[in-house]
Amino acid sequence: MSYRIIAKKDLAQGIHLLRVEAPAIASKAQAGQFTMVRGDEKGERIPITIADWDKQEGSITIVFMEVGATTKKLACLNVGDTLLNFVGPLGRPTEIKSFGTVACVAGGFAIATIVPIARAMKQAGNRVISIMGFRTKDLVFWEDRLKEVSDNLIITTDDGSYKRKGLVTEPLEELLEQDTINRVIAIGPTIMMKACSTTTMSFGVKTMVSLNPIMVDGTGMCGSCRVSIGGKTMFACVDGPDFDGHAVDWDLLMNRQRIYLDEERESQRLLEKRLRPEF
Ligand SMILES: Cc1cc2nc3c(=O)[nH]c(=O)nc-3n(C[C@H](O)[C@H](O)[C@H](O)COP(=O)(O)OP(=O)(O)OC[C@H]3O[C@@H](n4cnc5c(N)ncnc54)[C@H](O)[C@@H]3O)c2cc1C
Ligand code: FES
Repeated sequence: MSYRIIAKKDLAQGIHLLRVEAPAIASKAQAGQFTMVRGDEKGERIPITIADWDKQEGSITIVFMEVGATTKKLACLNVGDTLLNFVGPLGRPTEIKSFGTVACVAGGFAIATIVPIARAMKQAGNRVISIMGFRTKDLVFWEDRLKEVSDNLIITTDDGSYKRKGLVTEPLEELLEQDTINRVIAIGPTIMMKACSTTTMSFGVKTMVSLNPIMVDGTGMCGSCRVSIGGKTMFACVDGPDFDGHAVDWDLLMNRQRIYLDEERESQRLLEKRLRPEF
C-alpha cells in the first residue's frame, strides 16, 4: 500500500506541508501523536508529528523542516506522488484536560505540533496563551492558525525582524511572574525545551515537553529512542513523546541525538552529489 500526496505547500524557507491520503490514521489521530514516514524503498524511516487530520477526507497533514537527506528528499515530492510507508498514529496523545490556564510554547517547525494541542486544550475549556518563537521573520508560519485557537499569542524572533526580539523563555518568565499558569507545554528544539523547563522549574509549574530522540521503528522494539526520565529508562516512541520536562535527563538526550552525525553528513553529501553532480 502507498500513500498519495494530495496537497503540498511551502510554508516558509525550508519548511513544507504535505497532506497525505491515510484514512486509517486520520480516523484515530489525536493531538501529540506522530507518524513514521518512508518515501521509497531506499529511504530512511523518520518520525514526523501529525500536524492536522481530516476524518472526512481521510487525510493527515505533516509539516517538516529540511535538515538532512531524508527531509530534503521529502521536500522534492509533489502532489500525486506517493509515500511508500506512512505508519501511525504512534505515541501517546498529549494529556488534554481542563487545567485552567495553559501556556503553549513552540519553536520553529514545532508550531505545527502545538496547533492541534492548543486547539484541544481550548476545546477542553482552558484559557490558552501561546508563545511562538522563530530565528527570523522568513521562518514564520501558521501565525493565523495558532491565533485562532489561543486567547493570547506572543511572537518572538531571535533577531527582532518580526514582533518581539528575543527568545521564548523571556515572555514565558514574565507570564509566570504576572499570571497564574497551571500547565506549560513546550515543544521545539531540544535546547529550547530544556530552557523552558529550567524557567518553569522555579515557579513549580508542570511542564510537558515532546522529546525528539532518534527513532528507527517507532514501536518500542529497537531501543534507539531511549531516554531517561526521573532516572528511569523509557522509550520515547511508546512511553512518550511527551514527558515531564523537569524529570528529563537533557544531557543524555543531547548526546544520543549526536551519535549518527558522521553518517548524517555522509548521506547529505551523497544526496547533494546526486542532485548536483557538477560539484
Ligand atoms: C516524535 C518526533 C516527531 C518529530 N516531528 C517532526 C516534525 O513534525 N517535523 C519535522 O521537521 N521534524 C520532526 N522530527 C524530527 C525529524 O524526525 C528529523 O528532523 C528527521 O529525522 C531528520 O532526518 P534527515 O535525514 O532529514 O536529517 P539527518 O541529517 O539524518 O539528521 C538531522 C538531525 O535530525 C535528527 N534525526 C535524524 N534522524 C532521525 C530519526 N530517525 N529520528 C529522529 N530524529 C532524527 C537528529 O537530531 C539529526 O542530527 C520529529 C522527531 C521525533 C522524534
Ligand atoms: S524507535 Fe525503536 S524503541 Fe523507540
